[in-house]
Amino acid sequence: MSASSSTSSKPAVLIARAVFPEVTRRLAGHFEVESNHDDTVWPREEFSRRLHGKAGLFSSGGERIDAALLDAHPALRVVSNMSVGYNNIDIEACNARGVLATNAPGVLTETTADLGFALMMATARRMAEAERYLRSGQWTKWSFDLLTGSDVHGATLGILGMGRIGQAIARRGALGFGMRVIYHNRSRLPAADEAPLGARYVSKQALLRDSDHLVLVVPYSAASHHAIGAAELAQMKPTATLTNVARGGIVDDAALAVALREGRIAAAGLDVFEGEPQVHSALLALPNVVLLPHIGSATEVTRRAMCGLACDNLIAALGGAAPPTPINPQVLPLRGA
Ligand code: DGY
Repeated sequence: MSASSSTSSKPAVLIARAVFPEVTRRLAGHFEVESNHDDTVWPREEFSRRLHGKAGLFSSGGERIDAALLDAHPALRVVSNMSVGYNNIDIEACNARGVLATNAPGVLTETTADLGFALMMATARRMAEAERYLRSGQWTKWSFDLLTGSDVHGATLGILGMGRIGQAIARRGALGFGMRVIYHNRSRLPAADEAPLGARYVSKQALLRDSDHLVLVVPYSAASHHAIGAAELAQMKPTATLTNVARGGIVDDAALAVALREGRIAAAGLDVFEGEPQVHSALLALPNVVLLPHIGSATEVTRRAMCGLACDNLIAALGGAAPPTPINPQVLPLRGA
C-alpha cells in the first residue's frame, strides 16, 4: 500500500524494516502505514522513493538520515529510531529543518550488558575457539594446557564509555565477579555512582595500559571514530582482551586484525563492525576473535520493548504530545502537529 497517494487524513508513516506484527497494527491505528514485510534492505533510492510524502519514519537505526534526504522530503517531521544508537541520523541537519529525532534508550540496557559481559567472557575463555575444536573432531584427550584462557573473576575490567550500558556491565563485573573496575568517559560519574562499583575514573592511557579486559560502550561519532587503532592497541597488555558492543568504526578493524595476529593483545570479541554486515576478511581468518552479528539487544522481550518505545515516540510526536525519548527536543513543538 502506498500511503503517500492515499486520501486518508491520517499522517503517513514508513516502517523501514520488518517489525513485529503488533507494531504495524498499532501504528496503523494512528497512521497510514507503509511497511516492509519481506524485510528487504532497500537501496537508498528505493528507500527515498518510499519515504515520499511521509510525515514519520520508524527506523531500524540502519537508515542514513542526512541533509540531502531531509531536503528531498520536506513532509518528514519525525524520525523514530528503535535503537539507542543514533549515529545514522545527522542531528544538526534535523535541527536546521525542524525535524524531530527520537531513539530508544533504557529499554535495552540490561540485555545489551548481558551480551557484552557474555562476549567478554567467551573471549577471555576462548569459548568459540573451543567449540570449533570440539565440533571439528580434534578433541581426543584432556591436556593441562588445552585452550587455556585468562580469568575474568578478580581481573581488571576497563570500560570506555560509562553510560547506562557501561555502568550495567561494570555492575556485573564488580558485584558478580569481583572485578576491579576502571573507566574512561567524557565526564566523570558522580561519586555516588562510582562507589557501589568501586569504579575508578582514569585517563584513556591508563585504561589501555591497566585493563585485563577492555569493553567499549562509547557512542559512535566523529570523535570516537577509530578510538581504538594501532597506537591504542600497542598500549594494551599482550594478555588483554578487547570487546566491542558499541558500534563498528570505533575500532580500526584492520589494525585490530594485525594486533591479534601478532599477539599484541590476546583476543577480541566483536558484536559490531566497520561496514557491517561485511566483516573484514582478516578478522574472519583469525582464531582469537569471537564474532557476533550485532545481537547486543536481541532478546524477544527487549526487541519488543524497543519497538514499543519507538511507536510511543512516533505516536506522541505526530499527535502533538511530548515524546518520551526525544534526541533534539529543542525542535518541539513540531510544525503541523
Ligand atoms: C542499539 O540500540 O543501538 C543497538 O545497537 C541495537 O541496534
